[in-house]
Amino acid sequence: MENIPQHIGFIMDGNGRWAKKRAMPRNFGHNQGAAVFKKTINWCRELGVKCATFYAFSTENWRRPSEEIKGIMDLLRRYLKDIRASADENIRIIILGDIEPFDKDIQDELIDIMQTSKNNTGFIVGIALNYGGRAEICNAARLLAVKCSQGEIIPDDITEELIGEYLYTSEMPPLDLVIRPSGEQRLSNFLIWQAAYAEFVFMDVLWPDFTKKDLEYAIREYAARNRRFGGI
Ligand code: IPE
Ligand code: IPE
Ligand code: MG
Repeated sequence: MENIPQHIGFIMDGNGRWAKKRAMPRNFGHNQGAAVFKKTINWCRELGVKCATFYAFSTENWRRPSEEIKGIMDLLRRYLKDIRASADENIRIIILGDIEPFDKDIQDELIDIMQTSKNNTGFIVGIALNYGGRAEICNAARLLAVKCSQGEIIPDDITEELIGEYLYTSEMPPLDLVIRPSGEQRLSNFLIWQAAYAEFVFMDVLWPDFTKKDLEYAIREYAARNRRFGGI
């Protein structure tokens, strides 16, 4: 395939509906979704993608019942081991989001995984945890305001490039494609700055049913698009 996107964002949506269809608890769907997350990393690598960012938990997902949140945290804890194994396969892991509210053991593990995989060059996996695009931009604004107040920069120094350096994606290639399964057609606060010129593919499949064929379909769809970036 030609014209492969370098960086794909995945909104892993539809786990709850997938479980409901099977009369199972929502967390059963999250477990299945996590298995697909792992497989998708390999499919992306096989297809020549350089970086994939996965929306795993949003700043708004705290609104869910505590039982579901607990289930997601337990799943995350179990998955960290798998994520660590990926770090051994020359994959760099970047966590996007404010991990402060997570339990200390999860925070420590996430920081360690990021540190130890820092120099891996084979592939980049982004995992958005307690991530919100608005919170990310707000955080960049706050950090730049501190620099201004300390006299390190002046307001005129603040360019799009400089803001980009203060986002979680600063060391990733530009976002080319966002894939959202589950039938919803919205960003739900995912990479809103980075998606300014990304292509979108919305699909009806629920995330736990997402296959390599679906990924190939989305990439073909992307490859057929004419990206003009405001030009002609
Ligand atoms: C996405 O699946 C996973 C998370 C938000 C953690 P959902 O849990 O949103 O599944 P639906 O949308 O209710 O089917
Ligand atoms: C977006 O899905 C967040 C993740 C996939 C982690 P949601 O299910 O939370 O989004 P909404 O509520 O349908 O917009
Ligand atoms: Mg959802």
